[in-house]
Amino acid sequence: MACDATIIPAPDQLEMRSGHFILTNNSTLFAIPEFKTAVNFLKAYLLNGTGISIDSAPQAAASIVIIKDNSIPKEGYSLSILKKGITIKASDGQGAFYAVQSLRQILPPVLEKSNTTIIDSITIACMEIKDAPRFSYRGMHLDVSRHFFPKEFIKQYITWLAALKFNTFHWHLTDDQGWRIEIKKYPELTRKGAFRKETLIGHYNDTPQRFDGKPYGGFYTQQEVKEIIAFAKAHHVTIIPEIELPGHAQAAISAYPSLSCTAQEIPVATKWGVFENIYCPKPETFTFLKNVLDEVIELFPGTYIHIGGDEAPKSRWDACTHCQQLINQMGLEDSHGLQSYFITEIEKHINARGKKMIGWDEILEGGLAPNATVMSWRGTQGAIAAAKQGHDVILTPSSHAYFDYYQAAHQEEPTAIGGYLPLKKVFGFNPVPKALQQTDAALHVLGAQGNVWTEYMATQDQIAYMVFPRIFAMSEVVWSGPTKNLETDYADFLVRLEPNLKRLDLKQINYGNHLYDIEGDVVKNQGKVIYNLTTPTQGKEIKYSINGGKQQVYTQGLHISKDVIINAQLYKDNLALGRAFSDTIHYHKAINASVVVNVAPHPAYGAGGTDALINGVLGSNTRFADKQWLGFWGDDLQITITFAKPTKISKISTRFYKANGQWLYAPKTLEIQTDFGTLPMVKLPATDQPILDVNLKADGITSFIKISVPSFGVIPDGLQGAGNKAWTFIDEIVVE
Ligand code: ACM
Ligand code: ZN
Repeated sequence: MACDATIIPAPDQLEMRSGHFILTNNSTLFAIPEFKTAVNFLKAYLLNGTGISIDSAPQAAASIVIIKDNSIPKEGYSLSILKKGITIKASDGQGAFYAVQSLRQILPPVLEKSNTTIIDSITIACMEIKDAPRFSYRGMHLDVSRHFFPKEFIKQYITWLAALKFNTFHWHLTDDQGWRIEIKKYPELTRKGAFRKETLIGHYNDTPQRFDGKPYGGFYTQQEVKEIIAFAKAHHVTIIPEIELPGHAQAAISAYPSLSCTAQEIPVATKWGVFENIYCPKPETFTFLKNVLDEVIELFPGTYIHIGGDEAPKSRWDACTHCQQLINQMGLEDSHGLQSYFITEIEKHINARGKKMIGWDEILEGGLAPNATVMSWRGTQGAIAAAKQGHDVILTPSSHAYFDYYQAAHQEEPTAIGGYLPLKKVFGFNPVPKALQQTDAALHVLGAQGNVWTEYMATQDQIAYMVFPRIFAMSEVVWSGPTKNLETDYADFLVRLEPNLKRLDLKQINYGNHLYDIEGDVVKNQGKVIYNLTTPTQGKEIKYSINGGKQQVYTQGLHISKDVIINAQLYKDNLALGRAFSDTIHYHKAINASVVVNVAPHPAYGAGGTDALINGVLGSNTRFADKQWLGFWGDDLQITITFAKPTKISKISTRFYKANGQWLYAPKTLEIQTDFGTLPMVKLPATDQPILDVNLKADGITSFIKISVPSFGVIPDGLQGAGNKAWTFIDEIVVE
């Protein structure tokens, strides 16, 4: 059997050599005892995949040798496949293990299918690999609170990480919708806090919200946690447990109501979002949290404990006599100061136990705890600020690292929380923010992590679908380093990805396959409107038709000069691949104009660029995460459309997306300026519809249209995201 070197993450150096090594039942192995994890993995993998059993032999006689070389960087390795045998060198156990993971991807994919195939010999092409990671922190996260997943699945998840050389599993164990880890001292946490009455079905934004009426829950016993930790260790994965505080604590408070400011009885949350009942910083709460953390610290051998710290609304603290007294007594500024005090108290305890604390970037508010590591999720600002203060940071910005976001704009994608994070965007991620590049503070960037929040992932298959293939791209970012040439490197990545997807097929792992999707883009070229069709991989054919006409092979951009519907399909050897594609282009008066917006769209919601405002293509009616809707966070917008020559217009239309549960609000007013004057300020109605349609009469001849769109402002009390800036999502500006 032949093989191909399609390794992900891409090794630092790989050189093919002539000839082959043939691995058989007679092959033997020598390894130093320190590298037993790598050896155990390799032996089991070969035995399961082929029936080949490798015996041990002295170094001089062995055909596979795994030895120490202290000149090799931490976690790095060399892998030399010569005709006479295979030599792996590493300076630590991780490196030896990662060499085996690379070897695994060099071996034929069929080995992934365990216990089914008997193979006598494997022919492996000769090559030399030298490899080491770019970042020391390479993480994947999993939320087991919103949905619970059994021990067996957690182990499987860890195997996914290890295969791609991730070294950290961030286990989000507690949240409003369920407490998932047994704490011996507080049995109610799991007796009561691990179960909810029912669960939201459909999307949070659906009106009315619907529930399944079925009790739901589960938790890990400490025995199971130990078993998972041991399993992770055997895969060179360190687990970081997350115990959320002071917010996302409703499940804990449902078990022990006196931990909150009001001591009211509340249920475990049954829907998603941010909840106002948070821990009250009273002595009893600190005793509770320190006891909980002590049991967690006792269980988990890793250096880090994650304490959450995100999304803790301060309304209860603002109304609590104890909290207000504490603010006065400690001379704190306000509730943010109190959050900082809370986190610092917890950090002292964690540090005293010899561990380090990580928190989400909200722990910067009111002042960072002295030794904290910051996980930056609301963009990169938190990472930049913390690194400049000399703190270590881990990058998980929602714009590039939230695997709960949609990976494709297709209407038929399974329901997700929102957002738009296609594979290529993950691949293009640079964990070191621009503001830190070429500064000493960049050394504080430990690495990055993909986050898997499970509100909309109720099954293991759905997790796999959202994780794969984006985890491949993230592994390459954190191991091989960020790309220096997105287009060429991404094309190379896809060539390596295709065979890896076949491996997933063999292992019956679900994944989102968008490699055979077609994308359409309107571009302007020398006064002409051109429509380009593209597909990510090479060697395929796109066939298209316009307005239901004859199907033709696509060779170059299509010139558009009227309203059209374009249908297309991808083919390889005349066999249809992937999904059918359709796009509707409305050739309105602004399509060939130019557009400028005073601020750039948010990086998570600007896939189409500002040109998406006048490209003739409408966004989805049911989701705001695509290439057409543009999202702005709290900005007052000034959108200026400039025509090539004075143009007679009669009507201006646009739309705003509303999803209050996710902080999206339509503006309350609009103002429009043209050559023929400023139109009277338009008051926009507040409606229950998810989309606000705006249609304005505007008669006259003008060379420009300037639309002022003030942000809705701050989200009112009592609503999701209260106190935060509202988002504005705007679609096409259609000019007739
Ligand atoms: C987060 O996504 N709330 C960290
Ligand atoms: Zn309080």
